[in-house]
Amino acid sequence: MQADGNITASLGDYSVSLGQFSGAAMDRARNLSTGLPLASFTGKSLLAREVDALVHRLARHGLLEYRLASSREEQDLVVIEPQVPEYWPRRAKLSSRDTVVLSRFAHLRRRGNEMVLESPRAGALFRIGHPAIAATLAALSQPQKISELNRQGATFNLYLFELLLDSQILLKLDAKGGQGLRVNEGDGNLVLWDFHDLVFHTRSTEGRQANPVGATFTYADAVPPPPAVRPSWPGSRIDLRKFSAEPSSPFATLLRERHSTRDFDDKHPVTLGELAQFLDTTARVMSEWKGGPYFDGGPEVTYGTRPYPSAGSAYELELYLTVSNCEGLARGLYHYDAGSHALVAITASAQQLQAQSVAAQFAMDAPGQPQILITIAARFGRISWKYSSIAYSLILKDVGCMIQTFYLAATDMGLGGCAIGSINIDLFAKMTALEFHIEGPVGQFALGRGKKLEVPS
Ligand SMILES: Cc1cc2nc3c(=O)[nH]c(=O)nc-3n(C[C@H](O)[C@H](O)[C@H](O)COP(=O)(O)O)c2cc1C
Repeated sequence: MQADGNITASLGDYSVSLGQFSGAAMDRARNLSTGLPLASFTGKSLLAREVDALVHRLARHGLLEYRLASSREEQDLVVIEPQVPEYWPRRAKLSSRDTVVLSRFAHLRRRGNEMVLESPRAGALFRIGHPAIAATLAALSQPQKISELNRQGATFNLYLFELLLDSQILLKLDAKGGQGLRVNEGDGNLVLWDFHDLVFHTRSTEGRQANPVGATFTYADAVPPPPAVRPSWPGSRIDLRKFSAEPSSPFATLLRERHSTRDFDDKHPVTLGELAQFLDTTARVMSEWKGGPYFDGGPEVTYGTRPYPSAGSAYELELYLTVSNCEGLARGLYHYDAGSHALVAITASAQQLQAQSVAAQFAMDAPGQPQILITIAARFGRISWKYSSIAYSLILKDVGCMIQTFYLAATDMGLGGCAIGSINIDLFAKMTALEFHIEGPVGQFALGRGKKLEVPS
């Protein structure tokens, strides 16, 4: 807090300015280090509105957590750690007539010395401060009537349950809701998701979690880096060098020439013609066919054939292009309609396009933004309709096949590209208005014309 009323939040060498505030608001804000009741700034006074603005700015930057405590006890019952920038504790109303059950995506686990309650559907994580709350949560694996919980006098806090309901960790069952089992999770698009797949998807991407992501070297102090090449097995050895000739076919040469390109020539960007050729070579649907039912009475299933392999011939991957610099094609977001070999424009804000390109530039530690950023999204249901347990891993394997196809085609065409390992699934969901569990990003590839290396004379 500075003398002129400016408040800045600093964390390591990162800092954000939160605006200028009155002396009274600064005094009130000092309480934030120990706790400020939400109700204390809901009023209409100037002071309340100032504190409310400050608190919401802190929340948007992920700098707040919310403590739920019994007024009689000092001990935290629960501390809420937001996982998405929009999270704000809200209560979804429950009455004594309601029946609630835990979502099948909810899980309790030990984190350090704490017990945390999480769900890939929730915008926040709940740190459980009292074992009795964990016991009540365990009882909620079966539907429970609120009135019954009240009657049993379980350690029960309606406020907490309403927060959990808002976060979709608890579900309210209506009269037709059955026992809250798989198909009744409240969203038909979740039926096909296995628990571990949805957790993996949200925990291995950015946007729906607040944990550090990417090259963090978390345990570098404790564990040395494994070597680049595996130490040999001690068994007898057949030296292959005398059997294999130096690779010389055009394909072998292409494989040897392939490399990642992160620096693009923005004076000579990739052209629409080249992009069309690239997509035709790598991703176009070449033919469509129908397969007989997999089981008696099962439905007929439609298939397509494309240039890369795909598990179960599912071809669940879709391409979304964030175009920043392509000759003949306006800046914007496009879906590649692989069936009819066409680009379809999707309205996205300039700010969102910029955020996506800048994130890709950051991930590549590149001097500029990619000319075209290809986001590979999966239609999750297309593959999980058939496969359980391995569905998500198959999707990631398909992405690998596609990325190598992109690399080789780009090399063949004299273009350059680079795979990108981190993706923000929340930003993509906002850009496309597609919910994160229906169709979402699983890979990215930056495409462009690489800068020619200057050969010293
Ligand atoms: C799945 C995958 C993810 C990758 N993610 C990134 C990334 O986020 N940033 C980056 O600069 N390079 C990324 N790369 C590129 C690798 O760093 C690169 O392939 C590797 O260093 C070998 O170099 P080469 O491709 O030039 O042969 C990724 C590659 C793959 C296959």
